[in-house]
Amino acid sequence: MRVGDLQTPSLVVDRAAFEHNIEEMSAALPGPRLRPHVKAHKCTELARRQYEAGHHGFTCATIRECEGMAAAGLGADLLLANEVLDCRRIGSLVDEGHRVIVAVDSDETVHAAARGGVHEVLVDVDVGLPRCGCDPDDAARLADSARRLGLSVEGVMGYEGHVVGLTVAEERAAGCRRSMELLMRAAELVGGPIISGGGTGTYAFNTWATEIQAGSYALMDTAYAKLGLPFHQAVHVLATVISSHGRHAVADCGLKSLGMDHGNPSITGADVWFCSDEHLTFAPAMSVGSRVLVQPAHVDPTLAYHDRLHIVDRLLDAAAGQAVGDAEVLDTWLIDLRGW
Ligand SMILES: Cc1ncc(COP(=O)(O)O)c(C=O)c1O
Repeated sequence: MRVGDLQTPSLVVDRAAFEHNIEEMSAALPGPRLRPHVKAHKCTELARRQYEAGHHGFTCATIRECEGMAAAGLGADLLLANEVLDCRRIGSLVDEGHRVIVAVDSDETVHAAARGGVHEVLVDVDVGLPRCGCDPDDAARLADSARRLGLSVEGVMGYEGHVVGLTVAEERAAGCRRSMELLMRAAELVGGPIISGGGTGTYAFNTWATEIQAGSYALMDTAYAKLGLPFHQAVHVLATVISSHGRHAVADCGLKSLGMDHGNPSITGADVWFCSDEHLTFAPAMSVGSRVLVQPAHVDPTLAYHDRLHIVDRLLDAAAGQAVGDAEVLDTWLIDLRGW
């Protein structure tokens, strides 16, 4: 099959760029130093490539991701890095012999873990991102109450999501340090072997965490591309020009096929004007029927809109020579961890 045979919009991945990203990261953070976050791709076939690169523990954001990873034989060491108040489905996975550590940040989530049959937890600590996570000074109390309920407290996690996207490297590094100082304070009080944190923007600076939870690095997006990281844009939305008049063209991929919370997507050599539900308007005009590669600004929600990823040989070379339709589709992977 060739790219020209694909229906649009669809997700296409440049094989070489993807393999480069996996190798680059596993050289920087070998084996258990990386606990790849599957929320960025929601694809067990892609997770399998990360496993083969040496990373055998994974981070998940949803119960569905944990279940899908377990069903794919990748459930030997999962971290659900999110708060859950009904843990019964996680308890079933644990009963079946999978390892799932669950994040807790309140008395309610500690009790839910114990009630639902979870055995292991991490205390999730607020390191500056106003999202989940307890006050660092409350971490020891929560750990004690979890232990009293028979849970094994494996350590702490703290995600410095408010700094991972800072474009100035020094600011990112300084922000990461401030966050990890808070996490280390909690880690000392809580105990346990795991200190989990970090993302694609801070993986190179975060030397405090025992494991880094990066996920976007595998496929990348234009928000992270602004940081000058050593990862290549691997995933694109393939679209077809369905209309073109005057100075602009319209492609058949809109905000229902692109995560837009980080802004407009990009097209190399073109100026994206705006996206509506099913349309992307850009300049210059282009002949109707042309194929364009659209780079998403935010990879995670983009992937969650699609049900498969097409792995393509020499996609970017073909695009540079404007023969994108001729590039060969090598494989198709289901995005099978969607839903909740
Ligand atoms: C809990 C958690 N850890 C780590 C990450 C890092 O992901 P990324 O690779 O996109 O920086 C995220 C992303 O949102 C996250 O929510």
